[in-house]
Amino acid sequence: MGRLKLGILISGRGSNMQALIERFADPDSPAEVATVISNRPEAAGLARAEAAGLPTTVIDHRGYADRAAFDEELDLALSSAGVELVCLAGFMRLLTPEFVEKWRDRVVNIHPSLLPAFKGLDVHNRVIASGVRITGATVHIVRPEMDAGPILVQGAVPVAQDDTEDALAARVLAVEHRIYPLAVGLIAEGRVRIVGDRVEIDGAAPVDGALLNPDAL
Ligand code: GAR
Repeated sequence: MGRLKLGILISGRGSNMQALIERFADPDSPAEVATVISNRPEAAGLARAEAAGLPTTVIDHRGYADRAAFDEELDLALSSAGVELVCLAGFMRLLTPEFVEKWRDRVVNIHPSLLPAFKGLDVHNRVIASGVRITGATVHIVRPEMDAGPILVQGAVPVAQDDTEDALAARVLAVEHRIYPLAVGLIAEGRVRIVGDRVEIDGAAPVDGALLNPDAL
């Protein structure tokens, strides 16, 4: 069986993209990055992808009349690169239901919260303001509704009492860089089944232990 061909979509820094590139750099790994596409020409992640020797494409959304026209171009670029799984990595645009249905079960996203809590933007400030003591990150299969769809992997971190947005974002990002390669690897190994609204993973390690915050003082 060949390696699963990934198409990574970015809009900015591309640190999650980088984590995927590193995880699947080894030719013996179960996936390979076929292409990196950005909707913003100034995205810093483009240079990181080029430094890794990967083909990059800019599809500037400002050059398209509407979402449908942009998504058609995206679809063309992904198909012509032979992409089998689309990985949204800080891609800050909503995809049309038509695109999502065409690529059904073949688009994954990472979001910096424990979904279904804190969908949308400005997540860490809203987390801090809400008073929750645990947050995290989620990798999920994309459905037409924003930040929704069957959940593949989640990672949790504590929220500190005096947290700042930056400090919390950094703590969550470190978890993102672990769970995104993990989730994509599980798909590439053929261990993931989508059953209704849930994901079943073959041979997932049984979970033990709990994260308490505050822990016993
Ligand atoms: C990440 O924290 C990612 O979870 C978030 O944007 C950041 C991108 O960072 N994505 C979303 O908020 C999507 N709704 P990166 O460009 O360094 O990977």
